[in-house]
Amino acid sequence: MNKNVVVGVTGGIAVYKTCELVSRLVKAGYGVKVVMTEHAKEFVTPLTFETLSKNAVICDMFAPKPHFEVEHISLAKWAGAYVIAPATANVIAKIAGGVADDMLTTSFMATEAVRIVCPAMNTQMYRDEATQKNLQTLKDHGVRILEPGVGRLACGDVGVGRMEEPEEIFRYVDEVLTPNPDFRGKRVLVTAGGTEEDIDGVRFIGNRSSGKMGVAIAEAVMERGGEVTFVYGKISVPLPKGVKAVHVVSTQDMYDAVLKEMEDCDVIIKSAAPADYRVKEKFTSKIKSDTLTLELVKNPDIAKAVGEKKGNRILVAFAAETDNLLLNAQQKLFKKNADIVVANDVTEPGAGFNSDTNIATLLYADGRMECLPMMDKRELADVILDAVKSV
Ligand code: PMT
Repeated sequence: MNKNVVVGVTGGIAVYKTCELVSRLVKAGYGVKVVMTEHAKEFVTPLTFETLSKNAVICDMFAPKPHFEVEHISLAKWAGAYVIAPATANVIAKIAGGVADDMLTTSFMATEAVRIVCPAMNTQMYRDEATQKNLQTLKDHGVRILEPGVGRLACGDVGVGRMEEPEEIFRYVDEVLTPNPDFRGKRVLVTAGGTEEDIDGVRFIGNRSSGKMGVAIAEAVMERGGEVTFVYGKISVPLPKGVKAVHVVSTQDMYDAVLKEMEDCDVIIKSAAPADYRVKEKFTSKIKSDTLTLELVKNPDIAKAVGEKKGNRILVAFAAETDNLLLNAQQKLFKKNADIVVANDVTEPGAGFNSDTNIATLLYADGRMECLPMMDKRELADVILDAVKSV
């Protein structure tokens, strides 16, 4: 599910509530971009929304851009939900009538996202036949209307026209974009990618982990309403959006980060491939010799250290094996005091390092075992989260 929200802001005093809405969406991990009409800028400056959304505010269709893009279309495609709040009688009339004469109306018309309109206006304007007809037209077009409430309005009148409260708009958007919030309130620490152990000024020991498995898990957690602390080494895919990202280089760095970050987490999922060894003596300059013998020493076992101090937290370790998959995975389950081990035979086509799919067997501390067929890493991520819930 796309977790991006475009908030379209038009010129009405209820704009102060939209600041609160944007703030809530960002805190909940949504990507938020704000589009303002010219009239909206009379009520609040773009800087306010820029600061709250952590994104540039889009106002001008024709502003010069650093690189070529058809901005209203890319914005329309980016959105998972498009909320107009506040929506004046004027903008409601424009979008109902198919008028597209600025960034807000063009991008709203162009989007395939869930479209939500939050009217806010004087009671008579709201009750006016034209406005009611326009709102009905929007409903007929599949636009969802969050009806305004009754109360004292900015003009002094008492009646219907107050924009829906920001917490209610947030709840509605959240329900639309997070239909299965079973990880809401949970923080999950996910490790991803490979670590690097320096040999000299230019060389390192590493492995083929791409981070795809870890990214898939992080995305699944967020889609299910959870929060993610993402401790990652070398990865070849983009960072998942909305995570607390902690970058590390070596296994010792990952050890330090995980042991620190786990304090705030309920679940720890160790899909990273940390280097098991580091060179005993590191050279700062580039080594130049015909032959080279390196002495390697063992790195700390992060999962084992987590297992020793996990308390009520749930620990999911992985086992990347080339032979004796189940026997080795079983040993890792006990040695690391894990609740679940995700065993993958990394020699099998379609499994392990850098592929988009994986073939896994889940081993549980309570003796259960689940052999899974080949599936996308994103699909496997959901199976792992279901397994976590079953512990
Ligand atoms: O990143 P991708 O390209 O998508 O590939 C996915 C993957 C193959 C890396 C992933 O599916 C996987 O198997 N991850 C674990 C790799 C690994 O290090 O396995 P291991 O059997 O060596 O280690 C067992 C467990 O202990 C793992 O959870 C590992 O994170 C952890 N470990 C290992 C070494 C160490 N020093 N400390 C650890 O905590």
